[in-house]
Amino acid sequence: MNNIRALSYDDVLLRPQRSDIRSRSEIDISTDLERGVCLQLPILASPMDTISESPMANAMGKVGASCIIHRYNTIKEQVGEIDKVDSLRTVGAAIGVSGDYIERASALVDAGANFLCIDVAHGHHIMMKEALRELRLMFGGDYHIMAGNVATLEGINDLADWGANSVRCNIGGGSICSTRIQTGHGLPGLQTIIECAKTDRDVKIIADGGIKNSGDMVKAFAAGADAVMVGSLLAGTAETPGEIYMDAKGTRWKTYRGMASKEAQVEWRGKYSSFEGVAARVPHRGPVQTILEDLEKGIRSGFSYSGARNLKELQIKAQFVVQT
Ligand code: IMP
Repeated sequence: MNNIRALSYDDVLLRPQRSDIRSRSEIDISTDLERGVCLQLPILASPMDTISESPMANAMGKVGASCIIHRYNTIKEQVGEIDKVDSLRTVGAAIGVSGDYIERASALVDAGANFLCIDVAHGHHIMMKEALRELRLMFGGDYHIMAGNVATLEGINDLADWGANSVRCNIGGGSICSTRIQTGHGLPGLQTIIECAKTDRDVKIIADGGIKNSGDMVKAFAAGADAVMVGSLLAGTAETPGEIYMDAKGTRWKTYRGMASKEAQVEWRGKYSSFEGVAARVPHRGPVQTILEDLEKGIRSGFSYSGARNLKELQIKAQFVVQT
């Protein structure tokens, strides 16, 4: 057995460093994912049916972040969500690798989606290669295509070689994910970013899943991520789809669930096969904007502690320590 030590976000801290930054406003936390996808706040909302429809996309867009409209709907419904997003915002749209994905991709791009996200659990897969080939033929080289998920350097390199411009990195790390329990596979989230950041390809790294706070975001950026993707941090907010329900004590709740959970599969396909996610109830938390503003402040402070004025400087200066 190979003896590899792999780090999670909680295993490390960043060493505070001398700073000459007088105000957090001097820090530029924007990220250019290229081909028309530039984020002032480098956070993406996960393509999930309890997270990402037009209200979330508009709220994320308002603060310079972005959202990927989920694909658990008819093409008409998904296009309808894109139509409801202020066209000045940057919005992505998820597709799969089988069934109606070609027709769906074409309708979403026509509707104004700024980028597509090929959204499958195990993205380092022959069907991803075939889908990327088809989509590149359809949309040419200038349209931004995100793909994933992968957990390894071989994974990100292959997806880049197959035509992806950005890759969602992390397998099994999501808060509602049970892939590691069901299948025994996965890598700790931070280790995935450290490994994927060794790529020599022209590809952007999206740190996806398992990010619990702005501190984890700063660690992901320091390790090489160009943007982070989150679900649970946005769950339960007013802009998420789904009903609010009240318990006997008067606490208000919403549902947050993995897209491979039994519940999500039964709702969208009428049955479930192997399940790799769970459904949870989360407290209703009001508008997402306050949460995003707090995350932004935390990220800016994080850059400041490493004396970094932008993402590139952070990645050069950051010094990780492993805590016992
Ligand atoms: P969170 O921010 O930790 O809640 O993780 C969100 C991420 O979990 C998503 O962006 C997906 O990559 C991943 N994910 C969503 N649904 C499932 C699932 O059912 N099983 C495993 N991973 C999932």
